[in-house]
Parts: sequence; structure tokens; C-alpha cells
Amino acid sequence: MHYEDKHHDTLLHIDASVRAAKNDNPSHDSISKNIAKCFIESVTQHQAIDEYIYRDVGVNPPPFITQDWIGAVFTPENKKTAEQKQLLALSDTLIAEIAAADIIVISSPMYNYGMPAQLKAWFDQVVRVNKTFDFDLSRGDFPLQPLLSCKTLVVITSTGEFGFEQGGIREHMSHLVPHLRTLSKYLGVSTIYEIASEYQEFADARHQQSLENAYRQAAELAEHLSSVT
Ligand SMILES: Cc1cc2nc3c(=O)[nH]c(=O)nc-3n(C[C@H](O)[C@H](O)[C@H](O)COP(=O)(O)O)c2cc1C
Repeated sequence: MHYEDKHHDTLLHIDASVRAAKNDNPSHDSISKNIAKCFIESVTQHQAIDEYIYRDVGVNPPPFITQDWIGAVFTPENKKTAEQKQLLALSDTLIAEIAAADIIVISSPMYNYGMPAQLKAWFDQVVRVNKTFDFDLSRGDFPLQPLLSCKTLVVITSTGEFGFEQGGIREHMSHLVPHLRTLSKYLGVSTIYEIASEYQEFADARHQQSLENAYRQAAELAEHLSSVT
């Protein structure tokens, strides 16, 4: 492929595990972060990424929102005090990163059957009225509508147990990917790809197989994305 044929995309990469990708004891290495790292490396081999934005919200979580934060959000732009603008500065930055992105990669462990509180804190900062969605009661029972569009989301997860997929033995306990799917609408996502590594707590051949599948899927998806994004 000629370089001119390659795409020039902005990629936003969010990691959410509290574990580092590399530790003195490799058995403590974050699985989700390492698959995501490998995926990003493959993407850059297949297409030119103009801008790469990285946030490790697992290790550096955004603060929880507060009553004052909500007050600032609902204060009209021209009435916001300097203090309110300051309170929203991080949210503004995080939203600008999403707005700029063509491809969003979110890697996340499952904690207590859902996303880490650190990742939820990031979502609470970025799903914001008149920024990522607007609200209009004339739309009837569905007043919220996203303001961003056409983004591709890649979700990379690691779980200790297994069977969280549709029809799986723990589908009814699956609150990580379904929640991310619901929220992705407000990031302006139109296409979602999913890579899951399971069985970490069993540390058996099924875990090895699941890991290998996830790494293979990451490489295949990186190649596929270069032809469609
Ligand atoms: C606090 C905590 C809660 C967890 N809760 C679950 C759970 O509800 N279901 C599950 O399948 N695995 C659970 N696990 C296992 C993790 O999902 C698994 O270790 C995963 O590999 C962590 O992601 P990482 O390797 O990227 O850090 C939990 C782990 C931790 C540390």
C-alpha cells in the first residue's frame, strides 16, 4: 500500500484497569491494557494515525462530578462564573478529545460485573448536556439525542469469569459491555467492535486460548479497520 492511500485518523485510547501494563511480576500485568497496546501497534502498521490521544483513567481517574459541577453544566455559557468554568475545564478537555477522535479504543477490566468506577467517572465527565447530547421534550419519550456522530469504537475487555456474551451462562450478570454499548451512543459511535479475554481467574488452558483469540482478533481488526475507516 502506498503511503498516500493510507488514512489520516485521530485515535483516542482510554485504558481503565488500575493495573499497569508492565510490572516487576508479569502475572500482575493488565490483560486489557496489553491487548489494547497490541491493537494500537497493529493499527499504526496499517494506517497513518495523525493524532494519538492517550488517557489511563484507571491510574489517573478524573474526579467524580459534584452538585457544583451539575450547577455549572446547567448555567448558560454567558452566565458561567470563572469558578464554574474552572470546574468544567477538565470535562471540556475530555469532550474535545472525543470530538476530535475518528476511532475510540476503550480497554476495560470487569470489576463487580460492570466497569471500574474510574471509567464511570470519565463517562460522567463527558456525557454532558449541550456538549455530547441535547435534550428536547418535543421528542416525546426519548428527549436525549447525541450531538457527535460517525465514530468507530473498539471495546477491549478482560474478565476473570466467562460466559458474559449473548446466550452465555452469565449473560444476566453482564453489565460491562452492555453498559458501554448504551453509553457509546453519546460518544457519537456508529460502529462498535468488541474483543473479550475471559477466564483470567481460572488460569487454565481456556484462559490461554481466550487470550490467544483476543490477540488474534486485535490484529485482524486492525487490518480490517484500515479498509473501512
Ligand atoms: C476489584 C475486582 C473486581 C473484579 N470483579 C470481577 C467480576 O465481577 N467478574 C469477573 O469475571 N471478573 C472480575 N474480576 C477479575 C478481573 O476482571 C480480571 O482480573 C481482569 O483480567 C482484570 O483486568 P486487567 O487484567 O486488565 O487488569 C475482578 C477483579 C478485581 C480486581
